[in-house]
Amino acid sequence: MEDERSQQAYEKDIAHPRFAAFYTWMSNRPQARRMEDPFRRATVGQAHGVVLEIGAGGGQNFPFYDAQRVTHLEAIEPDDTMLAAARRQLPHTPVPTTLTKAAAEILPFPDEHFDSVVVTLVFCSVRSPERGLREIWRVLKPGGNLLMLEHVRSQGKLTAWMQDAAVPLTTRLSGNCHWNRDTKTAVLSAGFQLVEAEDMRAGLLPVVRLSAVRP
Ligand SMILES: C[S@@+](CC[C@H](N)C(=O)[O-])C[C@H]1O[C@@H](n2cnc3c(N)ncnc32)[C@H](O)[C@@H]1O
Repeated sequence: MEDERSQQAYEKDIAHPRFAAFYTWMSNRPQARRMEDPFRRATVGQAHGVVLEIGAGGGQNFPFYDAQRVTHLEAIEPDDTMLAAARRQLPHTPVPTTLTKAAAEILPFPDEHFDSVVVTLVFCSVRSPERGLREIWRVLKPGGNLLMLEHVRSQGKLTAWMQDAAVPLTTRLSGNCHWNRDTKTAVLSAGFQLVEAEDMRAGLLPVVRLSAVRP
């Protein structure tokens, strides 16, 4: 009962229709596709078996799942506008896919259920990264992999300061997006073992692509 109530509360609050519509439009622009698709392919292409994608947005990653490696995709997304966009992508998804309204902090799945969990450009926005990572740990099988692509806190002092200063604005305008989150450290603190991490781009929006396992 308590869990049911908190699940509804998490989902109810995540509604950014204008940002969702803008983001979906923008991420389909040819320039964005050219820039992002190789990173998406590199991240999603490592997923295997039964896969969970968290914060699927408008289904931007769906075309990149490899039907030879992935048997089923469970995709979750808490925002109704994003969810509707993701639903429109389902016919173009090369693997059997189920789309569910849910938030990272309370995953509606049993323990040790998934072989891979995919998360791209989401942990900047979740309300509780620690709770989200605890849930990912719970639903991943031991030995399962967590595949992430996230923009993160800058390692430079000045740019990190600028990111901190920008956060009140970015959270308001971009669906609770925090420019200053140290997601790699959060993943390690949650107990995952890092397999590889690639730092890409610098400046105000550095990006990390990482693969980690639940030991
Ligand atoms: C910037 S969009 C990224 C969408 C997509 N993953 C991509 O790579 O383009 C951030 C997404 O995270 C979702 N999100 C925000 N808070 C969340 C939470 N607590 N649990 C799961 N998803 C969340 C948003 O609704 C949105 O779809």
